Amino acid sequence: MVTMFFKKAEKPPETRPLVIGPIQRLLTLSEPFVSPENPLGDIADALLVADVISGHILWLGPSAELPKTYHDAPRQGMVGHGFMMPGLVDCHTHPIFAGDRAQEFEARLAGKTYQQLAEEGGGIWHTVNQTRAASEAELRALAFDRCQQALRLGVTTLEAKSGYGLTLEDELKSLRVIKRLQEQEHDKLPMTIVPTVMAAHDVPKEYEGRTEEYVAHICDVILPAVASENLAVFHDVFCDAGYFSREQAKRVLEAGLALGMVPKLHAEEFTNQAATQLACELGAASADHLLCIDEVGLQALVASGGNTVPVLLPATAFFLGMTDYAPARRMLELGLPVALASDFNPGSSNCNNLLAVMAIACLQMRMPIDAVLRAVTVNAAKALRLEGSRGTLSVGKRADLVQFVARSPSQLLYDWAIPNPVSAVWVAGHRVHVNEAAFA
Ligand code: NIG
Ligand code: FE
Repeated sequence: MVTMFFKKAEKPPETRPLVIGPIQRLLTLSEPFVSPENPLGDIADALLVADVISGHILWLGPSAELPKTYHDAPRQGMVGHGFMMPGLVDCHTHPIFAGDRAQEFEARLAGKTYQQLAEEGGGIWHTVNQTRAASEAELRALAFDRCQQALRLGVTTLEAKSGYGLTLEDELKSLRVIKRLQEQEHDKLPMTIVPTVMAAHDVPKEYEGRTEEYVAHICDVILPAVASENLAVFHDVFCDAGYFSREQAKRVLEAGLALGMVPKLHAEEFTNQAATQLACELGAASADHLLCIDEVGLQALVASGGNTVPVLLPATAFFLGMTDYAPARRMLELGLPVALASDFNPGSSNCNNLLAVMAIACLQMRMPIDAVLRAVTVNAAKALRLEGSRGTLSVGKRADLVQFVARSPSQLLYDWAIPNPVSAVWVAGHRVHVNEAAFA
């Protein structure tokens, strides 16, 4: 009897439902709403019930079908008009750096190439010097602002790479910035930031002509230290002519894998190194850039069955004034889960506006709008191995949402250069940002 009594008195797991809506148009990108006629799983006049304690979705569907249990729950309406969709996922960024490269921008306009500037001692190396000179607190303040800008533009999950330190101490400093932002400033910056160690971003000057030794230093010293402080989920290498060879990339990625980190790879950006095949062989979560990918690389991605996601970064090609973009349409024809990301960094893509990237993808790679929306939600989540919780809206997923002023995705991208079309952002069921200017 006594045990019965206690069993009865045991509190059920606490949930606190919040009914969000009515939502004029909700893109779920998920079952059972997605169909050939409804590729983005739209629901008109929708409601979404979020549990503000766990942050998960309890229910979503047409307003008329709201279950009785939620009829008396608190409500939060939309902010003005527009459509809502899963919070955006920017699955490739380099936001931990000091200084800028505005002078190089001018030099590039005068005819210098990105590679020439790097050979002359500028490029990544210029930013490494400034980043090494900055304190962790300075880097944290800079990264905070950059990530907050992304959040205000609808990004609720963002991958962030180190790679402007290139010493043990400076790589740890950069990755601790991400950890501290997540652990200590989450109230002020309530987004998910996924850390990636990229000590193999460039060969530092102190190792000039000794790339092999630097590779050994990464494998034997930097990666183990990063893993022991649990500072990175992913690890990445810039595999290209003048940076790291396929063999060197393989060594670094295998070392990280053995420490429990998941590989990603900067592949075929300026030259083809058969890096995509390497990424697929090692079970990388993504192969990124892919401007120079060939048919063999494409078939390797197909054979990976979606395990290695092609991440395209068209703002980089745009910012470098290139005319040949990655073959997005061919990838879509092959059924690949194409993702898009900003590649935000001071040298080759000074753009942390994923909406601008989406418009460039439409205009320069002729990606259809539906594919662009999948590329920054479900497929980008897949590139971070977070598709179980993010990138789509269904019961049990996180209630990360963005509301745009536009009526439809096509209007959103057509209006591509308006200052900020995001009217509100929700993270884990909490409205964390309202942009009065968007609907004024
Ligand atoms: O993804 N490709 C390597 N890294 C960056 C560029 C970094 C920089 O120029 O500072 C990229 O394009
Ligand atoms: Fe990059």
